[in-house]
Amino acid sequence: MSVDGETRFTGIVHDLTERVQMEQRLREQAALAKLGEMAAVVAHEVRNALAAVRGAVQVIGARVPPDSREALVVPDVVGRIDALSGIVKDMLLFAHLPQPRLNPVDLAQLIGSTADYPDKDPNLQNVRVEVIGAVPSTLGDAELLRIVFSNLFTNSAQAMRGTGTIQVLLEPVGASCQIVVADRGPGIPPEVRERLFTPFFTTKARGSGLGLATAKRIVEGHEGSLRVECPAGGGTMVIIQLPLRGSME
Ligand SMILES: Nc1ncnc2c1ncn2[C@@H]1O[C@H](COP(=O)(O)OP(=O)(O)O)[C@@H](O)[C@H]1O
Ligand SMILES: [Mg+2]
Repeated sequence: MSVDGETRFTGIVHDLTERVQMEQRLREQAALAKLGEMAAVVAHEVRNALAAVRGAVQVIGARVPPDSREALVVPDVVGRIDALSGIVKDMLLFAHLPQPRLNPVDLAQLIGSTADYPDKDPNLQNVRVEVIGAVPSTLGDAELLRIVFSNLFTNSAQAMRGTGTIQVLLEPVGASCQIVVADRGPGIPPEVRERLFTPFFTTKARGSGLGLATAKRIVEGHEGSLRVECPAGGGTMVIIQLPLRGSME
């Protein structure tokens, strides 16, 4: 433009960093969603096939002499199929984690009943879950929270090699209820601790590496938080905070 005979310029600079980052995030989310859909289809097919193979192996197992080498292989094959099926199930859930449907939940009761199903998880057969303290009833999705505790109990039971006590401390903290799941296992070395929530990261031969990632996502879906600490005295503590919400809100 010309001002008093002098030529001037106006430059407008837009910083697009944020927009470019957002586009990148959207592209990643879309890719993840597509991957999730694919995983669901694949997982479904794989599970059906695994169930069929499991049934067939058991039929064959029943027809060979009970003390033969062939018969001894059967439980091993079935065990491996079950582990694989468990991994696929974890994947399906992780790919399609539903939004929590909030209803009043009694956490102490939910935790107790989750611990009392050792037939669902053989790791828990010789493990005692001790619930200490109390919190008021809050709003949460009982089905999803059950998955959180079940995943944590399985990890603790495996860390304690199948025997010992898991302590669950319940306590209101400010506007949250705090749930600490503590075990007396060997704790977690720093290089593992960094990657705990990375999907598919596992130190186990037959682990899915999705237990903690799923638990964290469910808790965050409840607007809560989940972190892991290894106290100096040994063992592992998983600390969950869930917002205390009255059913009248
Ligand atoms: N209570 C615990 N004690 C020791 N290590 C743990 C504990 N919980 C989790 N971990 C470590 O974190 C890893 C990831 O756990 P997770 O996401 O549940 O997957 P997975 O159990 O299938 O390996 C485990 O492989 C294990 O090394
Ligand atoms: Mg696990």
